[in-house]
Amino acid sequence: MEKLKWILALALLSLRLHPLALMRIRPARRINGHLSLPGDKAISHRAAIISALSSGTSRIENFSTADDCVATLACLKKMGVGVKFETGGKALLIEGVGLEGLRAPRSPLDCRNSGSTMRMLAGVLAGQSFEAVLTGDESLRERPMNRIIKPLELMGARVESNEGRAPLRINGSRPLKAISYEMPVASAQVKTCILLAGLFANGRTEVIESSGRTRDHTERMLHCYGVDIKTSDLQNANLLSNKISLEPPAELKAHDGAIAGDISSAAFFIAAAALLPGSKLEIKRVGLNPTRTQFLSTLRSLGADIRQELIDYGGWIDFPDFNEIYGDLFVDGGPGLAPTEEGESNVLRGALIPQLIDELPMLAVLGTQVIGGLTIRDASELRLKETDRIAATVENLRAMGVEVEEHEDGLTILSRTRLRGARLDSHGDHRIAMAFSVAALVAEGDSEIEGADCVSVSFPEFYTLLESVVER
Ligand code: S3P
Repeated sequence: MEKLKWILALALLSLRLHPLALMRIRPARRINGHLSLPGDKAISHRAAIISALSSGTSRIENFSTADDCVATLACLKKMGVGVKFETGGKALLIEGVGLEGLRAPRSPLDCRNSGSTMRMLAGVLAGQSFEAVLTGDESLRERPMNRIIKPLELMGARVESNEGRAPLRINGSRPLKAISYEMPVASAQVKTCILLAGLFANGRTEVIESSGRTRDHTERMLHCYGVDIKTSDLQNANLLSNKISLEPPAELKAHDGAIAGDISSAAFFIAAAALLPGSKLEIKRVGLNPTRTQFLSTLRSLGADIRQELIDYGGWIDFPDFNEIYGDLFVDGGPGLAPTEEGESNVLRGALIPQLIDELPMLAVLGTQVIGGLTIRDASELRLKETDRIAATVENLRAMGVEVEEHEDGLTILSRTRLRGARLDSHGDHRIAMAFSVAALVAEGDSEIEGADCVSVSFPEFYTLLESVVER
């Protein structure tokens, strides 16, 4: 029996790691149907970590099914946190160990492909009185970590790395020194890392965002778990700068909540429906946090027909001011996209970029169907994601017959182009695989996506749900 389990585990592993899992995609006529999506990945990471540090059990509904979030849960379990599914599987129960209760892990914590897991847990580990190692897969071990090492060292933690990359060996210190830190890059992961370390500091920790506001789920959630946290106007996502500060709490209070559908996953379906005339798509209960909805605004400014209804406050319902809002989205496919205003609507740049960061590959594909094309600038962060997303996007667009210029910090699609079916390479990056799966639906002729199984990093159900709404 034991042997059979191992054979099965190895077989599954080889399937998962097969670099050439090919997905064949035929063009679609339109998108028709309704969907509900798994919980938001970014909120799920935070719910897991903050609940783990709380006193008491938190019950979380609609927790993300992403491999990335599975990695976060596995790391927390290794440090003694109880994680289990409620009978019936509707909610995840996280038995918090309190701010003082994490145990030293016996082996390295494997963050797999997940930058969020590594950067957020690094903030927590900086405040522990034990040593721990964070590691990950080949892609994660290539990604820059100095952006978190520097502030954590300023706070008094010792972090050994492989020249600024993982594995990271973190020697925590308690209490950490409270700092005021202006972030050199607009990154919600870095902000979260410092705020989580701030829970273990000897005074008020301050983070300053000066080059555009990033997603604010951490701020909202820490407030709901009882932390004295101050931030600029939560309703105004367009503020260029923002200052967040928190006082270390005596304890975090466990909290029940429900996580709305992931808007970054919804983006692929919204794009497909907007591109295919005659489409009618409804997506229920999608998270509409103002720091995440720029994709909808941008599409609307290109003439897409997207309505939202039934806005409600979900999640951590006792805190209307800090709560995450959600709503239902309705998309009708139109005859084509074009800027609806005079000026620069064919150009995406500046403070908009951090709020579109995960949607940019999809927007580049959409840009091929916009009259006048589309330019994306100020997005050099894309080169530091799971793969170099500028290079991967340009390569795949060219394979589909698009004339595109590559810039160090973005790309320019010169004009509206009829896409040609092609063999496309995901480069093992989930968002590249999904963006080009949508491109394949609107192309002429069949396409193949190499390494398409990587979609499970954020959205294991992607292909099943896509097939359920595609009409051919
Ligand atoms: C995330 C922040 C973003 C985003 C990532 C999730 C988060 O990364 O790209 O998918 O949950 O905070 P950066 O902080 O590196 O911009």
